Order: sequence, then structure tokens, then C-alpha cells
Amino acid sequence: PPYRIGVIVGSIAASSINRRLARALMALAPAALECDFIEIDRLPLYDRDRDDDYPQEARELKRAIDEADGLLFVTPEYNRSIPGTLKNAIDWASRPYGENALSRKPVGIVGTSPGGIATAVGQQHLKSILAYCNAPLMNEIEAYVQYADGLVDDDDRVTVDSTREFLTDYMRSFDGFVRRVLTVVPQD
Ligand code: FNR
Repeated sequence: PPYRIGVIVGSIAASSINRRLARALMALAPAALECDFIEIDRLPLYDRDRDDDYPQEARELKRAIDEADGLLFVTPEYNRSIPGTLKNAIDWASRPYGENALSRKPVGIVGTSPGGIATAVGQQHLKSILAYCNAPLMNEIEAYVQYADGLVDDDDRVTVDSTREFLTDYMRSFDGFVRRVLTVVPQD
């Protein structure tokens, strides 16, 4: 330790409830996890004609993922899938062929929505994509957080006790998961 965790938010909206939740999760993380955002809002659209000459933003994304010991995705669900912005970032990260930055990278997935099933379908899509990208997925806890106004306050605190305890637990499990994967799965 410390283990470096890259936090990727699937929404680029400044008012994003998923970014709010991500900040709260970072605050609840065990001390051994050093969490930093990896931003995806400046990436151009993925274009395989550029595989031989990756744009700077995409090279930075790949470097940030390489340097992370694990990735935490916190993402909304768009039309029962993941936002195109997030898929775009994953496509950049996974290429050029043979240089997939996501391979063997331990991953946790969280999402929040005002809706009742709270990103469950979108997360299932994300799991399918990341499984194909050979990223070990934490499955022992799933986090589908229904968002109501004020759930996370302006100081990044979760205001509902049971939700705060659950999310603390989630980050504790994620810490254990990252350690186990790094012990068992060669990272090169
Ligand atoms: C949504 N929203 C949404 N919610 C949901 O639970 N399931 C869905 O399939 C969708 N689909 C969807 C599509 C598009 C294009 C938008 C803009 C929104 C609502 C969504 O959960 C809500 O806008 C959240 O606030 C989005 O998350 P962020 O951006 O606030 O983090």
C-alpha cells in the first residue's frame, strides 16, 4: 500500500449525481486506497485510423490506467446501457490491438439513478464490456444506489446512515478485492 485507484465517472455533466457519489465513495475509502479521478471529457471520438498515432488525450488516459492498481467506475445508465462517453473512453483504453490497458486491471462498478432499478441494467452492460476487456470484476457486492435529493451533501457526505454504512462496506470490499487480484494476477 497505498493502492492507487483511478475513479472514472461515466457522466461528464458538472451537476452529475454520479460524480457526487464518486466523491463520497472516495471519502469513505479505506486509508490504503489512494483515489484520484481519471477524466474522460476531453477525449475525441475513437477512430481506429489513429491507432498508429494516438491523440495526446487518449495516451494520457492509457497512462493513468496503467499507473492505477485498480479502477472504480461510477456511472449513470443511459437508455438501459452505459453512456456513449464512457464506451468511447473504454474503446480508446482497449486499443491499439495488443495494448489493452484494461487487461487484468481489478475493477469495481457503482452507479446511481433517480430511478428504481438504479443503473442495474447499465451496470450489466458495463460488466459484459469489461469482461471482454479481460478486467477482473468485483462481484461480491453490487451497488445500485437510488438517488434522492440531498443523499450526498455539498461536503461529499452521505446523509443516510444505512447507505453510508453500505458504501463504506463496498469500499472495504473493493480494497480487499484489489489486493487479492494483485496477489494472484500478474500485471504485466
Ligand atoms: C437517462 N436517465 C436514465 N435513468 C435510468 O435509470 N435508466 C436509463 O436508462 C436512463 N436513461 C437516460 C438517458 C439519457 C440520455 C439521460 C440524459 C438520462 C436518467 C439519469 O439517471 C439521470 O439523468 C441521472 O442524473 C444521470 O446521471 P448523472 O449525469 O447525474 O451522473
